[in-house]
Amino acid sequence: VRRITVPQIRARKGGAPIVSLTSYHAHTAAIVDRHAEIILVGDSLGMVMHGMETTVGVPLDLMLMHGRAVVRGTKRALVVVDMPFGSYEESPSIAFRNAATVMKETGCGAVKLEGGARMGETIRFLTERGIPVMAHIGLTPQSSHVMGGFKTQGRDEDTWHLHEEDARVVAEAGAFSVVLEGMVEPLAARITAQCPIPTIGIGASPACDGQILVLEDMLGLSPRPPKFVKVYGRLGDMIEEAVKAYAEDVRARTFPTEDQVYR
Ligand code: KIV
Ligand code: NA
Repeated sequence: VRRITVPQIRARKGGAPIVSLTSYHAHTAAIVDRHAEIILVGDSLGMVMHGMETTVGVPLDLMLMHGRAVVRGTKRALVVVDMPFGSYEESPSIAFRNAATVMKETGCGAVKLEGGARMGETIRFLTERGIPVMAHIGLTPQSSHVMGGFKTQGRDEDTWHLHEEDARVVAEAGAFSVVLEGMVEPLAARITAQCPIPTIGIGASPACDGQILVLEDMLGLSPRPPKFVKVYGRLGDMIEEAVKAYAEDVRARTFPTEDQVYR
């Protein structure tokens, strides 16, 4: 394996912070590949790329297509592909079947699935059979219909033990890292201190062993990014200006000019 490996990520527990970003697309993935250790082909692509309201409608085929694009566009980072809603919850064997399809058809190095204690058996089933699993606990968007939206977790201290149990179970089951999404800082800090595998935070404070953001959010392409996003670029504004300039040029017949014409 010439890419960053699962054991290398696992060994980063408590060490230098793990840099992760999402990408769904070959050309952006090639850029991210030069700077991040993990590239996640997140099912957030349903919302970001395809205008869905939640991630619940994302089909496996779409994950395969974007997964392939990102693997083709990269050479160094560990590529992790999200298991979409409905492809893994029912049973460990169905999860294995679909995760194996993801691994074989995309060439990715690991899969990610949502859920803590309830997914322990499945995480063990997959890892024992050659499929590395990144877990995802706290705010789990695929459960948004049950939770009544995207809600920050751990505001009530009485619920902390449940999230701590989730982290303990996924680590014991063999997950090589765990995403902590949308949780208050003291809870993320407790889990990170207790958990033997790296925690990758999104909206989960700097206490985590690594961070992840949705690329389009941090690039300023998403119209209303959540509070936890730091916007590092103004790509939305840049695209707007470029498209506007092009439209003006076409209308004024100032594009194409001599440089763009075959003689
Ligand atoms: O789908 C996604 O982008 C994710 C990250 C936000 C962790 O699961
Ligand atoms: Na996801």
